[in-house]
Amino acid sequence: MRRILLENIASGMKLAKPLYSADGRILLNAGLELKESYIERLHNLDVSYIYVEDDLTADIEVPDVVSEQARVEAVSTAKTIMDNVKLGKKVDAAQAKKIANNLVDELCRNHGVMVNFVDMRTRSDYLFSHSVSVCILSVLTGISLGYDELKLRDLGVGALLHDVGKTQIAPEILNKTERLSPEEAEEIKQHPAYGFEILRKNPDISLMSAHCAFQHHERFDGSGYPRNLKDAEIHQFAHIVAIADVYDALTSDVAYRRAVPVYEALAIINQASGTYFNPELIEHFVGNIAVYPIGSVVRLSNNQIGVVVDISHEAKNKPVIRILMDENKQRMNKLVEIDLSKNPRLYIADVVER
Ligand SMILES: [Fe+2]
Repeated sequence: MRRILLENIASGMKLAKPLYSADGRILLNAGLELKESYIERLHNLDVSYIYVEDDLTADIEVPDVVSEQARVEAVSTAKTIMDNVKLGKKVDAAQAKKIANNLVDELCRNHGVMVNFVDMRTRSDYLFSHSVSVCILSVLTGISLGYDELKLRDLGVGALLHDVGKTQIAPEILNKTERLSPEEAEEIKQHPAYGFEILRKNPDISLMSAHCAFQHHERFDGSGYPRNLKDAEIHQFAHIVAIADVYDALTSDVAYRRAVPVYEALAIINQASGTYFNPELIEHFVGNIAVYPIGSVVRLSNNQIGVVVDISHEAKNKPVIRILMDENKQRMNKLVEIDLSKNPRLYIADVVER
């Protein structure tokens, strides 16, 4: 399979992974041949990327750090929890712990697998899939830091619920695509405090987890909100969640902006090292991310187009590429793979799926 931007989809392509709604229903199934009507449906659902397969990419599997089932279940439970909070009920701590523990278990078991972002998201489900991704990315960072299981679970719950305060903000403000008025911006900035209030009142949620909600917009240099805390004044969990939060937002379509490719998001995170983010934690965070995820389509410096098929931890910037089109834009009719780590003169010039 390979990843493709929705606007580059052509009729007749085959969907390589199922597309789920936030409540876990299959919207479009794997193997489906994309007719115009399905493509229109994908546009209506506001999906930005999908995975397709053809004869040149049919055997390429994208390994994920957690199983599809665990992710789908987690997103659906996150939605239920937040929908209930919106209705004025309290956070179902048992449910939150169950999914966080499940993700922690899988992430520990799959230790060493790099993050290739594999979930196809619809924009309306952003809050729930974002919560689950931030949980996964934060726990991975905790594992790199050598956290024990108890700490990983608290971090997992905190990361999963870091934005629970957004349930208290009017959707018209939250989803606004135009510039926010100063009052609206102020209201959005209240979500860490709203989240903290919701979580700290809950006796089944640890105070450490609640601080992920309260402090995830604080910044290493004190430039964040709501309290301008800096460096050691911020709990380490919140430092981690802050990086995961920004990273996942950058690599997703959000109300006011399209997703950026992983290498660009990582560059933005690295540029903020020592200002917004704790440099040491960035190292641990970045170590888990595949710069060019398996399934991404790239243009090489010799103008050949190919798909990433394998990555080693030692040479993350130099994956193995299967060539799809030669330098004259002619489709390949034989299987050619180039290991960039063994071809120092060739490099990735661009990610072309966007
Ligand atoms: Fe937030």
